Amino acid sequence: MDIGTRRLRLRPVAPHDAPLLHGLDADPVVMEFVTGGEATAPAMITDWVIPRSQAQFRECGTGLWVAFDRRTRLFTGWVWLRAPRHSAVPELELSYRLRRESWHRGLATEAASALISVAFTETGTERIFASTHPDNMRSQRVMQKLGMRLAAEHLRREQFDDGFTGHDVEYEICRADWLRTRRPAAVAPSGPRHRARGPGTVEMTA
Ligand SMILES: CC(C)(COP(=O)(O)OP(=O)(O)OC[C@H]1O[C@@H](n2cnc3c(N)ncnc32)[C@H](O)[C@@H]1OP(=O)(O)O)[C@@H](O)C(=O)NCCC(=O)NCCS
Repeated sequence: MDIGTRRLRLRPVAPHDAPLLHGLDADPVVMEFVTGGEATAPAMITDWVIPRSQAQFRECGTGLWVAFDRRTRLFTGWVWLRAPRHSAVPELELSYRLRRESWHRGLATEAASALISVAFTETGTERIFASTHPDNMRSQRVMQKLGMRLAAEHLRREQFDDGFTGHDVEYEICRADWLRTRRPAAVAPSGPRHRARGPGTVEMTA
């Protein structure tokens, strides 16, 4: 299934996307709050990230969605919406990472908003949450624009050599809150092909 937003096309990641993901993670500014600036090893992408996402799509219908500019067809980045491995409740975890050239245009919010809309209308998900480093204000601003609220602050013991800590803040949005702040028209009929009209049009193509 593909998902279209006003400016982006999202599709499940495939093995041939590995060089795009690797290029994205090779930018130390992009990785500042993810790893402290370290690039991801290519083997991690080919042997773990992509197969894991493919398994998530098979099991839950969602995983790592790669995003392309609808006009230029260039790779923009990705949004990952996945079922956490050890969760006993119907919830999904959200994360996102865009090429630096694509920042500050509202694209992360646009892509994540479309996936949240599909998750709440097409699946039984009750809660979507996202975590980031407490200093990652860009990411937290995206969460706030998505209607998420601060739910928890996790303090971790890890302290990396460069001073980067494993602390993070967790934001969440629950189905009831999402429905309350969306017009009823945003709830799309289920089916392989439909267009949901509401805040941010979402197209789905089987
Ligand atoms: C986080 C990220 C996805 C945001 O992408 P984006 O497309 O630029 O996000 P948007 O344009 O939708 O929104 C960004 C918001 O942050 C705001 N912002 C940007 N820099 C900021 C800063 N230093 N402090 C506070 N807010 C900031 C922008 O003004 C915008 O809010 P606004 O629309 O109210 O003005 C992108 O910066 C990225 O890929 N970062 C690297 C990876 C990462 O950190 N991922 C998150 C980890 S979960």
